[in-house]
Formats: sequence, C-alpha cells, structure tokens
Amino acid sequence: MKIITLNSEIEIGKAVGDRFCALLQKKSAAVLGLATGASPLPTYQHMISRFKAGDVSFAKAHTFNLDEYCDLPAAHSQSYRSFMHAQLFSQVDINPENTHFLDGNAANEALECSRFDALIEHLGGVDLQLLGIGRNGHIGFNEPAETFSQGSYKVKLAPSTLEANSGYFEGEHMPTHALTMGVGAILRAKEIVMVATGAAKAEAVKAMIQGENTPQLPASALQNHPNVTIYLDPAAASLL
Ligand code: GLP
Repeated sequence: MKIITLNSEIEIGKAVGDRFCALLQKKSAAVLGLATGASPLPTYQHMISRFKAGDVSFAKAHTFNLDEYCDLPAAHSQSYRSFMHAQLFSQVDINPENTHFLDGNAANEALECSRFDALIEHLGGVDLQLLGIGRNGHIGFNEPAETFSQGSYKVKLAPSTLEANSGYFEGEHMPTHALTMGVGAILRAKEIVMVATGAAKAEAVKAMIQGENTPQLPASALQNHPNVTIYLDPAAASLL
C-alpha cells in the first residue's frame, strides 16, 4: 500500500482526478470503477474541470459503480445512479449506455449480481477503481463479516452505515439493504485509489493499514492488492 497524505480534500481531488485523466488519455476506452459518498466529490469536480478544459474525454470509457440501494426508485434523488448523474455524468461527455449500475430493484437479485459481474469481466475488468471507506471499515457496501465476499451480492446495511447515511434522506425512510460488488471483485481491479478524509475515518484508516487483515474490517483486504494508493488528509492520517 502506498500512503499519500495531502493538505486538503481539494489537493486530494486534484491528485486522484489527474490519475483518472491520465488513464483516459492513455486508454480512451478505459473501465473506471466509481464510488459515491462525499469523499469522491472533489475528484469528480477536478475531472469535470479537466474535461471542460478540453484535456480529456470520457466518450469511450465505461464506468461501473460499486453499489446501489435496494428498493429505492432509480430516479430517487438519493439513488447512486442519480448521484453519479448529478455529480459527474451530466457534466462530461460520457455515453449514458456505458455507465453501469447494479439494479437494486431487480426481481431476481442473484441474477442481477451475476449479470453485473459478468459484464465487468466481458469489458476486460476494472482498470482503475476509486474507493471511499466507511467508518466501520466498509468498502462499497461490504460491511464487517465472517468472510470476505467475492462476487456482487445483497447486503444488510450495518447500524453505523444507516446512521452515517440517513442524513441524506432528510427524514425519509432510508433503504436497509443494498447490492454491492464483493471484496474479491474489487480486488480484481488493476489499480485502486482510496480517498479518506476527516477525523471520523481515522480509526478505520489505521485499522486498514496497520491492523490485521480481517473480514471484520473489509478495507483491510486492500493489504493484499499489489497496486493500491491511499490518499489521506491530516485528520484521517492522525492515528497512523
Ligand atoms: C457509503 C458508500 C461507500 C462510501 C462510504 C463512505 O455508504 N457505499 O462506497 O465509500 O459510505 O462515504 P463518505 O465518503 O460519504 O464518507
């Protein structure tokens, strides 16, 4: 694991956004693994400004998002599809048909998970995966568990995740389950970048980097990946 501590989330967004742009300049049909939450927002902002400057095109890229809530209409403002549309896709030249999500409303969830995993493989696998980290060490929506998950699957959200994300739903009932890429599938990305900022992530960051490799702290699985860079701000790095 390579650890890079930068002064602010804006600096992190520039560094990580530049990595995505460099990949697209080299490989226009790259497969990008994308994440939601607050952590990736400065990265997406920087990618948008590089696109508007004419430095980079997303026209041939494919994207796969890590996860999606179950039983939430795709058009709901808090669906991850809506989030990605608002925060990135509507502001760059990506082909909407090339933006891939797990369908949290699928009638047959197991089939939907296999479809998604097979499509990633069919397109050659994820070239660069962006990750955030939950306060309990989750990646995607892989919550602490007895074993590391492999392919995509349905997960019951942990109480700390419900608490962390309920604010986004402004008093509305929040989904209790989600479909997520598994840890094993995330680790198949050729390159992984994680962004963690703020003191609320410091304990999970310390456990991920310096703790035991255990499914109780799903992000610790990244210790086994040959090409991971963790971008931290001083608050998230404060316990290292
Ligand atoms: C969410 C997402 C994760 C994200 C994490 C942290 O629940 N499913 O993919 O990395 O929680 O979110 P944030 O960046 O807002 O702290």
